[in-house]
Amino acid sequence: MKSQAITDNFQDANVDALAVVVFKDEKANSGILKDLDKLVGGNISSVLKTEEFKGETGETAYFLFEAKGKNTANRLLLVGAGDKTDYKASDVYTISGAATRFLRKRNVKSFALMPRSDGDSSQTAVGAMQGVVSSQFELDKYKTKDKNDKSIDNFVLFVEGAKEKDLKDGLKRGEIIGDSMNFARDLANEPPNILHPTEMANRAQKMAKEVGLKCEILDEAKMEKLGMGSLMSVTYGSSQPAKMIVLKYEPKKTTGKKGELLAIVGKGITFDTGGISIKPAEGMDAMKYDMSGGATVIGTMRAIGLLQPTVPVLGIVAAVENMPDGKATRPSDVVTAMNGKTVEILNTDAEGRLVLADAVAYAEKQGATTIIDMATLTGAVIIALGDLNTAVLGNDQNLVDEIIACGKEAGEDFWQLPIGKEYSKAIKSDIADIKNIGGGRKAGTIIGAVFIQEFIKDAKWAHLDIAGTAWADNEKPHHAKGPTAVAVRTLLKFVEKSQ
Ligand code: BES
Ligand code: ZN
Ligand code: ZN
Repeated sequence: MKSQAITDNFQDANVDALAVVVFKDEKANSGILKDLDKLVGGNISSVLKTEEFKGETGETAYFLFEAKGKNTANRLLLVGAGDKTDYKASDVYTISGAATRFLRKRNVKSFALMPRSDGDSSQTAVGAMQGVVSSQFELDKYKTKDKNDKSIDNFVLFVEGAKEKDLKDGLKRGEIIGDSMNFARDLANEPPNILHPTEMANRAQKMAKEVGLKCEILDEAKMEKLGMGSLMSVTYGSSQPAKMIVLKYEPKKTTGKKGELLAIVGKGITFDTGGISIKPAEGMDAMKYDMSGGATVIGTMRAIGLLQPTVPVLGIVAAVENMPDGKATRPSDVVTAMNGKTVEILNTDAEGRLVLADAVAYAEKQGATTIIDMATLTGAVIIALGDLNTAVLGNDQNLVDEIIACGKEAGEDFWQLPIGKEYSKAIKSDIADIKNIGGGRKAGTIIGAVFIQEFIKDAKWAHLDIAGTAWADNEKPHHAKGPTAVAVRTLLKFVEKSQ
């Protein structure tokens, strides 16, 4: 996709349409709105007067006008951004995304955006371009007709007085992040007959080659040998062999503290039937997205390979299919995980924690000093937080705070839930060290987290339960229905800040 930065005259952009942010209670008689109002024959004043358009967040007004002189644009889109005092730097992402989807539908191929944010102009460019690219993802890969394939081919960003280089660098970074989000979303959208663990590993391997990451795939024999009895217990019922995907990024020049290594670890259950503790038929199809944590890891690592930060990052995905079968694990089976702990499996549908147990232990064995895991782990998190916040839990308050802060900057919301010894008591088993469920219906998300914590030795660790946020049930002005690539932007912000 083409992009361009301009810093002097908005109306000179060589595009089909102009899009401009308008705040609530703005008047059309000063500054840029005055100029644009002239261009569209007083129509901005008119819609503001009639309150047809008030500048509320997500509101739009669209005008056609006659192109003048050397300017090619003959359309103007106003995008409401609400109260100016509430406007955050990250809002440019939703605004550019909403403008993109609005204009694309109307066959517009190129547009210039004036975001009017006074923040860091390079970050504005990152957010704007992420929005343009990621808002164009659609669920129609397997449609043979009625595809939504109209696209914006050229995006022009206007920030008055900014340095052109800052904007250009930001646009490049934003494009990489947007494309990587879409890469993750494509994985999450794949049907499970196509994206089984082996295919997930193949796609990661191919991507790694393209962006210059190291990639190692651990097969079942290797995982058995490493003693990953907890992960392996989940794959016994499946005819698809499990894979552990290990992606490594090593910078040419390091600026981080010596010996520090960040690992991002994802739950990659390519389909979750529940196993012998089988799920009800209704809604089971949704469980193809149970590998969304893994998709976030792969998408994030893709961006890291291209952005080349100065800190090393390890990406690990436990790719496994959870099926019922004669060979499947039974409720009451006891298995031994890689760290030697014994686990009584009382519910085979609580499988995410079983695969993550060995994945986080492996990450730490590989030298990780900070571990962030992502998982569609519990239905309980959807009850607690809905689809607006990702739950974050961890053993290090600074790490949790940093994730929340990076999320704010990147435009993703996280909400902390507690952990602690009292909660951990609920997973004590009568016959083994721990059991994989506990506490009945109480604090389901916390119980999932404290189980994973049993497999962390010394690392700082945070767990993100993305079950509520990884899939959008409805289309929004700035994105399609479906996979959201949640946490990709936040993790990349986290890596950017650890340099
Ligand atoms: N993949 C599910 C979590 C899930 C459930 C995500 C519903 C989205 C919607 C996970 O493997 C699971 O089944 N968890 C159980 C845990 C329970 C058995 C302790 C759950 O949440 O019901
Ligand atoms: Zn499950
Ligand atoms: Zn699951």
